[in-house]
Amino acid sequence: MAGTASVQSNRSSTEVDIATTMKGTPGGIFMRQFWTAVGVSTDVEKGRAKPIRIMGEDYTLYRGHSGRAQVMASRCPHRGAPMHLGWVEEDALRCVYHGWKFGCDGACVDQPAEEAGYKEKVGIEVYPTREHLGVIFCFFGTGAEPAFPPFPEPAGEGLIDVWPVYKVPCNYLQCFENTMDEVHVAFTHAPGGSHAKLSADLPIITAEETDWGLMRYGRRKTGNVRHTLHYAPNIVRVIVPPLAGMNGVGGWPEIIFSFTPVDDENCLWIITSKVRVSGDEAAKFLAQRAALDELRDQSPDVMDLVRDIWSGKIAYADATHPDLAVVQDIAVQAGQGAIEDRSNEFLGRSDAAIVAWRRILRRELKLIAEGQPHKIWATPPDNVAPALGV
Ligand code: FES
Ligand SMILES: [Fe+2]
Repeated sequence: MAGTASVQSNRSSTEVDIATTMKGTPGGIFMRQFWTAVGVSTDVEKGRAKPIRIMGEDYTLYRGHSGRAQVMASRCPHRGAPMHLGWVEEDALRCVYHGWKFGCDGACVDQPAEEAGYKEKVGIEVYPTREHLGVIFCFFGTGAEPAFPPFPEPAGEGLIDVWPVYKVPCNYLQCFENTMDEVHVAFTHAPGGSHAKLSADLPIITAEETDWGLMRYGRRKTGNVRHTLHYAPNIVRVIVPPLAGMNGVGGWPEIIFSFTPVDDENCLWIITSKVRVSGDEAAKFLAQRAALDELRDQSPDVMDLVRDIWSGKIAYADATHPDLAVVQDIAVQAGQGAIEDRSNEFLGRSDAAIVAWRRILRRELKLIAEGQPHKIWATPPDNVAPALGV
């Protein structure tokens, strides 16, 4: 039936592009209203500078000797050398080409071969950079930065566990949409059995807009309701089963998961979590976590395994990996295409939250495109938390 004239397109040609986050587009302006997770704190140690690419733009991320992380422009304003090749001195970064040195505030503080007074005329672009729960955030917008942190730490005892960063070859929005799609777990994660508890029946999904994003409910036959928080514009806060390689140790963590666009066809999965353990249980968790890290190092790269599944070399149901749920999720989500063609979908009842979020996105992007006042998003409160609901 697909492709016949009777099938209605979900998208008209004049519609705003909800998938792009390129600078200057409505989607790019929308995303740049918020703090963006750019990496995890352990990505960059003191005294190191690294290149990062976020929403189609290149930047330098470095950590000063005081421990402060800073994002600045990718290229030196002198003659364009890459700043990440440079030396970190105190909390400043010196370009390796001719030694111009820039502080965290973007001021040029040294120009060894130039005349006195010239450095006052030069600066480099810098972006507000902060850290929260083991994640580095940056604000790429114009105007005043929003309140920080962008989301609260989950209340109660436990330890913060930051996951490895995964680079996923597809648009961020189809990954964010996947988190609104609770039905997929009964199918996508059936092999390996990690999500069996969530798969006893299929929930009825409903969602409502809040002043900080989207609240989603998954109602079970038992009457139990699973609550999942989708913070605007690209973060999910949810309780999930432990990864295969954790063997159940630490129980179900509460994860706060950012889908950061690298460009329109790639995104980063940046995940921090609260694990409800303390005392002996915490020690046991950390030992298992270290064992998982070791196992991961000895295992095939997640994307290599995904490509083998895509090519048919390995049957989906036969794949094994300590991060199996991640492999499964990437296989289906990036398997939809680098940028999913949403004009060819048949959305159903189970897609209710995706429909709700797209409606919000289209509304906001259209207002931005028209130069109209748009929603001012609130920082999520700390008294609204996810519930497992099974
Ligand atoms: S290009 Fe950086 S100092 Fe010359
Ligand atoms: Fe999943």
